[in-house]
Amino acid sequence: EKGGFDHFMLKEIFEQPRSIGDSMRGRVKADEGTLQLGGLSDYMDKLAKSKRIVIIGCGTSWHAGLVAEYIFEELARIPVEVEYASEFRYRNPIIKEGDIVIAISQSGETADTLAAIELAKSKGALIFGVCNVVGSSIARATHAGAFTHAGPEIGVASTKAFTAQVTVLTLIALAAAKRKGTISDSLFRQLLVELESIPAKVEKVLQAADKIKEIAYIFTYARNFIYLGRGLNFPVALEGALKLKEISYIHAEGYPAAEMKHGPIALIDEDMPVVVIATKDNSYEKVVSNIQEVKARKGRVIAITTEGDTYLPGIVDFTIEIPKVHDILMPLVSVVPLQLLAYDIAVMRGRNVDQPRNLAKSVTVE
Ligand code: F6R
Repeated sequence: EKGGFDHFMLKEIFEQPRSIGDSMRGRVKADEGTLQLGGLSDYMDKLAKSKRIVIIGCGTSWHAGLVAEYIFEELARIPVEVEYASEFRYRNPIIKEGDIVIAISQSGETADTLAAIELAKSKGALIFGVCNVVGSSIARATHAGAFTHAGPEIGVASTKAFTAQVTVLTLIALAAAKRKGTISDSLFRQLLVELESIPAKVEKVLQAADKIKEIAYIFTYARNFIYLGRGLNFPVALEGALKLKEISYIHAEGYPAAEMKHGPIALIDEDMPVVVIATKDNSYEKVVSNIQEVKARKGRVIAITTEGDTYLPGIVDFTIEIPKVHDILMPLVSVVPLQLLAYDIAVMRGRNVDQPRNLAKSVTVE
């Protein structure tokens, strides 16, 4: 049932070209320039008119929410707040008419997320769900939503659910932007075409699996890791660090690259591996200078770079290339090498990758 893979997690990482495709199926028609989200179509006006979106979730789903924050604000110009469901539920949150809450959950059973939904509902909010499991408690508790259709996720570490969540949230943001008129027709069409190209680009990253394994081998016994990224790649840094810590039990932290100099840079020495997402996007130059700061302190840098970047291989210790992707869609591709790196290190350390200690697939208790 693992389809020839050693673990469910690896199978699920390799399923992503298909699962990302499935999350768009019947929704995106790039050749016609159309996008449809059946479960939300009656609510599109309300979404386009909303004054604020509050996104709630836990763990990896919260990271998908952080990615969505950038995309909604950029494309649909709607202010977004992203909250841990566990904090939101105990904070007497301010919810006003015209606010929309989007709850993200793979399992649809996370207790904190469910309680946060009930609280927001009691304050009159309109609630959308982005869930993977059809018929789950969260899917039933929300007013409307869009399923991620990633298929069952068995490995405790969430992988294909994350990329499906980001895909579906991108579709919701695009639909809102289109309805609001905050996106040009040409950018809308371009992003639909780019979305359809994502599965093939993820497939290409998966072909770098052997190279990633070699890097994992070198860092198998590291005691700490730092992950850095800017903009949309900042939540990807958080997600890369979470994957590593939960399955390998190595201490890892994700930071926005520019925050380094406000503290974490003190940790950098020759024993500190630093994974930097340094793709060719609008923060590339800034990230390069952050890398130089790390190198000046003898940190060992593993950079995720855009194919054809000939500069970074000269200044960092290791590079993992990914195909060129539109800035807005970058996380769908840039997260994949980080999933593989965490997986390989955990396997090399002999960890129980699919069922890490102290963790459960759905956290149905507080
Ligand atoms: C990370 C992970 C957890 C979940 C979190 C939320 O790999 O699996 O952090 O993302 O417990 O779970 P869902 O999305 O089911 O609400």
